[in-house]
Amino acid sequence: MKVLNNISLQEHNTFGIKSNALKFTEVETLYELTEILTNKEFENENILILGGGSNILFTQDFDGLVIKIKIRGFEVLNQDDDEVFVKVGAGEMWHDLVLFALDNNWGGLENLSLIPGTVGAAPIQNIGAYGVELKDSFEYLEAIDIKTLSLVKFEKDQCKFGYRDSIFKNEAKGKFVIISVVFKLSKTPKINTTYGAINEVLQQKNILNPTIRDVSEVVCAIRQSKLPNPAVIGNAGSFFKNPNITFEHYELLKNLYKDMPVHPVSDTHVKIPAGWLIEQCGWKGKTFSNYGVHKNQALVLVNYGGALGKNIVELSKNIQNDIYLKYQIELEVEVNFI
Ligand code: FAD
Ligand code: EPU
Repeated sequence: MKVLNNISLQEHNTFGIKSNALKFTEVETLYELTEILTNKEFENENILILGGGSNILFTQDFDGLVIKIKIRGFEVLNQDDDEVFVKVGAGEMWHDLVLFALDNNWGGLENLSLIPGTVGAAPIQNIGAYGVELKDSFEYLEAIDIKTLSLVKFEKDQCKFGYRDSIFKNEAKGKFVIISVVFKLSKTPKINTTYGAINEVLQQKNILNPTIRDVSEVVCAIRQSKLPNPAVIGNAGSFFKNPNITFEHYELLKNLYKDMPVHPVSDTHVKIPAGWLIEQCGWKGKTFSNYGVHKNQALVLVNYGGALGKNIVELSKNIQNDIYLKYQIELEVEVNFI
């Protein structure tokens, strides 16, 4: 395991932002991880744990040690007629896990097809798409406490999963390295096609009794039609979360904006699509030389090449201000600023 100095992080973040790390290393095993964490040479360094860099915005150079997690492996822990428990290394790519599950006809992850990034980062924001979240198949994870180096097991309730949220974005932020995640998958999959355009596309294809592979293929096609491919245009997916507002707040706004889309989330709150709010404020497709707001999905901020992290931050602040002035809604950032 080598530790490199002054390494460009441009290829390690899907935004394609130019930024340098003072020190950079990749770890493939638990042994390598503990070796680097116990090395006296780095004991005072700031540490950044990196997966695929698809939910990160570098706003400056990183003055510390970046540890990229490449711990691999799939292991079936146990199974019965209905369920299978699979332990997956944190450095496996998320979509490879989805394909592994599909190849075995194990259900639960198909709606989460094609989400970029690693398995180890997926619990951090409880990744979600098309009506399903990681927590729905999550059993437990194992992590290393960066300070004490002890191996800690987090059960589902300890992770405090919420919408794009977990303990790892709050009180446990920056304190643990996730090394593996255990999933409970179903051998008798229940199809979930209620969200968005899944049913519509299945009907167009004349698929009446979809398999989990059919659902996965449809989800991939919908995603590819909406979201920019980071290999072509730098981005980190949704830049903001969809905001929840109180029912009273919504009632006031509804009188002014009759076509405002809304999804009930509880007896007291509704969710408003942030993409709609951003589009209504005229930001969709706006471009400022080499960065801007994507033309097909207003929730995605993009780097056309050479933009700086601070350009994207400034753009995001201007969007937040406009939304607040017009709707009195505070948009919360989903992406992690470094
Ligand atoms: P990184 O960006 O490398 O890291 C994200 C955070 O997790 C950082 O704070 C990092 O320090 C921490 N971290 C990473 N690995 C570990 C580890 N092993 N242990 C401890 N901390 C760690 N997200 C969704 O929820 N739904 C979507 O539909 C979705 N679509 C996307 C589409 C596109 C085109 C893109 C670019 C992104 C999308 N995302 C989506 C966001 C992103 O894919 C997820 O957040 C993903 O889980 C990030 O994984 P990563 O490995 O790239 O994490
Ligand atoms: N909309 C607009 N204009 C836009 C974009 C969206 O008006 O430019 C409105 C439309 O009303 C549309 C609605 O927003 O019907 C929802 O749009 P979409 O289905 O594209 O989903 P989203 O709410 O923008 C969320 C997640 C995505 C996830 C998709 C599918 C968040 C922050 N984003 O996006 O996750 O893939 O649903 O489930 O919850 C991510 O987290 O990075 C991400 C891409």
